[in-house]
Amino acid sequence: MNYKQLYMETFGCQMNVNDSERIATMLAETGYSVTADPAAADMILLNTCSVRGGAEEKVYKRLANLRPLKTAKEGLIIGVGGCVAQQEGEELLRKFPWVNLVFGTHNLHLLPDMVRGAETGERRCETAFIDNEQRLDLFPTVKGNTRMSSFVTVMQGCDNFCSYCIVPYVRGREISRRSAEILEEVEILAMSGVREVVLLGQNVNSYGLKTENEPTFAGLVRKVADIEGISRIRFTTSHPKDMSDELIACFGDVPKLCGQIHLPVQSGSDSVLALMNRGYTRNSYLGKIRALKAVRPGIAITSDIIVGFPGETEEDFEQTLSLLNEIRYSDLFYFVYSPRPGTRAAELPETLTREQKLKRLDRIHELQRSITREINESHVGTIQTVMVEGEGKRPGQVSGRVDCGRIVNFAGANTLIDTFVDVRITRAYQNSLLGELV
Ligand code: 5AD
Ligand code: SF4
Repeated sequence: MNYKQLYMETFGCQMNVNDSERIATMLAETGYSVTADPAAADMILLNTCSVRGGAEEKVYKRLANLRPLKTAKEGLIIGVGGCVAQQEGEELLRKFPWVNLVFGTHNLHLLPDMVRGAETGERRCETAFIDNEQRLDLFPTVKGNTRMSSFVTVMQGCDNFCSYCIVPYVRGREISRRSAEILEEVEILAMSGVREVVLLGQNVNSYGLKTENEPTFAGLVRKVADIEGISRIRFTTSHPKDMSDELIACFGDVPKLCGQIHLPVQSGSDSVLALMNRGYTRNSYLGKIRALKAVRPGIAITSDIIVGFPGETEEDFEQTLSLLNEIRYSDLFYFVYSPRPGTRAAELPETLTREQKLKRLDRIHELQRSITREINESHVGTIQTVMVEGEGKRPGQVSGRVDCGRIVNFAGANTLIDTFVDVRITRAYQNSLLGELV
């Protein structure tokens, strides 16, 4: 078969990365293979994110940049999908006459048909949300993976309505995939050589809670752990309010579950957490962290922080700093608050200047940098199992992840790729470790 070339750019979260993988799988059946070179492409798709401010402008800028390519190559198809597409819809076709396709977050299954239409000059926008029953039947499944690690979507959407967050509006209502289909997908992946699965959803902890006759997320993790061939399980993202005792217990007695969890706290201040509609307090969050550390000593916990939420006082902010000191996250992602259209927080008056917000961001950065470095250094001298996934940073090195998720580079032959090996950690850097084969 003579493949046409598809170039894709993915912004935002791992959900989008997984959606792009599923798009690539679907469009392979329509005759497209993925290229890394936009100039060689017959079709360019942008898979967009709108979680924080400035996202729309970024997409507009990129689309403006693509115009000369379109002029130079007759028949080039340009498409926009993901969260900005969901939000802007038809407007994108109006603003950018060189765009052929706009597809929303519920409409991936329509892409093959939309692409066939675009090949004959059609311009089309599909952003309708699809009701839950129908959605379950429209999940494009992944049929194999050539890498050792694979995402597996277990749920989509979100019903939490944190006051700052656009996700419920652009990803729609929460829906859990059927567990039988998830387990079948994991089995197929395991047979194709996958050894690690990352269970994926906007809020995986609430998996199955609204569906009869389905396991809870903890139950699902245990079932995935029973599948032969799977050695490692990770999941993301978790909402602290739905982090059950049952799931915490899994970290104690499911050895395949890696010692790593992303549990976004957003703020260390109760009053800010209440304004954010997060559904937990600093204390109840700390209780969950203590329980996690008790069942899995050394567990790597990571988090997200928003600084400069409307009304955040210096005291509130210091509560966040003290929380970071108390928990000692192994890694942290921090963002300046930006109002998102249609969310409840967008109606709150902003109380801080951009400069004040950036200053707070800087203070977080400084504190976390040293904590991360110290935690990385605590690994030096230990022996850890590494899942070797590819070539390393330097020639002659290979690279992979240890149980807690950190990347390790070490001297070794390429034949080690796709295997598990034991490595002694010899040095720590800010974002990675150095090791030697034992
Ligand atoms: N402003 C700033 N950061 C935000 N996030 C989500 N919405 C906003 C917003 N309006 C951050 C949160 C979330 C991460 C994915 O993005 O920290 O956990
Ligand atoms: Fe961005 Fe949220 Fe959409 Fe993911 S779900 S792409 S983080 S807006």
